[in-house]
Amino acid sequence: MPNPYLHGNFAPVLDERSDDHELPVTGVIPPDLEGRLLRNGPNPAVIPSDESDYHWFSGDGMIHAVSLAGGKATGYRNRWVRTRSLANKVGTSPPRGPREPIDGPANTHVIRHGGTTLALVESGFPHALSPDLDRARVHDFDGSLASPMTAHPKVDPDSGELVFFGSDVFGPSFLRYHVADATGQLVRTEEIDIPRATMMHDFGMTSTRAVFLDLPIVFDLELATTGRSLPYRWMPEAGARVGVMPRAGGNDDIRWITMDPSYVFHVLNCFDDGDNVVMDVIRYDKAFDTAPGEVISSSLPSLARWTIDAAANRVLEQRLDDLPVEFPRIDDAVAGKPHRYGYCTRLGDRVRDPTSVGLVKYDLQRDASTRYEPGEHRTAGEPVFVRAVDGHGEDEGWVLTVVFDATRDASDLVILDATSFGGPPVATVHLPARVPYGFHGSWVPTGT
Ligand SMILES: [Fe+2]
Repeated sequence: MPNPYLHGNFAPVLDERSDDHELPVTGVIPPDLEGRLLRNGPNPAVIPSDESDYHWFSGDGMIHAVSLAGGKATGYRNRWVRTRSLANKVGTSPPRGPREPIDGPANTHVIRHGGTTLALVESGFPHALSPDLDRARVHDFDGSLASPMTAHPKVDPDSGELVFFGSDVFGPSFLRYHVADATGQLVRTEEIDIPRATMMHDFGMTSTRAVFLDLPIVFDLELATTGRSLPYRWMPEAGARVGVMPRAGGNDDIRWITMDPSYVFHVLNCFDDGDNVVMDVIRYDKAFDTAPGEVISSSLPSLARWTIDAAANRVLEQRLDDLPVEFPRIDDAVAGKPHRYGYCTRLGDRVRDPTSVGLVKYDLQRDASTRYEPGEHRTAGEPVFVRAVDGHGEDEGWVLTVVFDATRDASDLVILDATSFGGPPVATVHLPARVPYGFHGSWVPTGT
């Protein structure tokens, strides 16, 4: 059976492009946007002969970079992340620096912190990228990182700290909590006790607390010995828990609260509400409950609010909307604080089709949403919010998204005014190539 993650715009591109400058633009690029949009995603360098052996989460990472300056689109470039596993497959230069415990594909996210650009995947160490993306160095925080790092670290908007965790399937410890200061120095590591290795893709950070998601996708050593590329399975009997910990605390300070089984890949945001913690998540009834080579879940995800009352040992679950959505983002300036707005990709309503069809902006204060429809034969990826230089309101800025245009068999960078989200784009940059559906990215302003 064909693997949906190897066809259409999931199929990898074969070229690494360097010489595309002065890209054609429809509309006017806001002059505030001086920098690069970096986007990471799987782009398998070698496709297995049996397509069911390929899992979307395991494809070799590729970074796509679109540069904007002076109201112009000044360049497009794409590069595989120079991981050791890529080198072993196709003979590219291996990364410099220390050896990872397991060679990861560095395919999930790309961030800039402490003056370093990091390609991330939860199964491996970060890879620090050169500005031209041609080189990589395995980044273990000067020897301080002993096990893999999540692809979803959070930056505290006040302190500039990078707050994160890492899962080590071969633990114990299966879970570690870390903090790097604003310069990128790792200053804190705490080992956290959990009974087994579970797939922990994201977590919550408030101004004072970290919230861990111990949900029942379980690492299965038996599956690992069969050579399956992602040896996890849905195991609701293992139970589901969230762990609330003061950010300055450790394992002894965590309160674990049991809840009904479900799965969350992504947290929109998380904040303190007195003694409670509010966490907005994209919730699946279940995941990793399908056969290899099929879609990731037999259920469609939607936005939910979890109000965690640690003192009463209870989580109140509210479904906020029925629309199938994923890839939630906020204005990062409100990370860990109460948020009003959220941006997501909107999925189709067929479980077996993993394609996103557009975007949605949630106004959680007004309990309202606005859709961006990219047009016929066009599909939109993760929305990245960029606050305007003089923007004061939480949505005063732009949403950047990579849109695949099937008619052109190439992609566009679409720039939306977040305050008039359902309207036409302020600018569309026509990229010279197709950007396969991928995962996450960041806007990196020039000079940061
Ligand atoms: Fe993710």
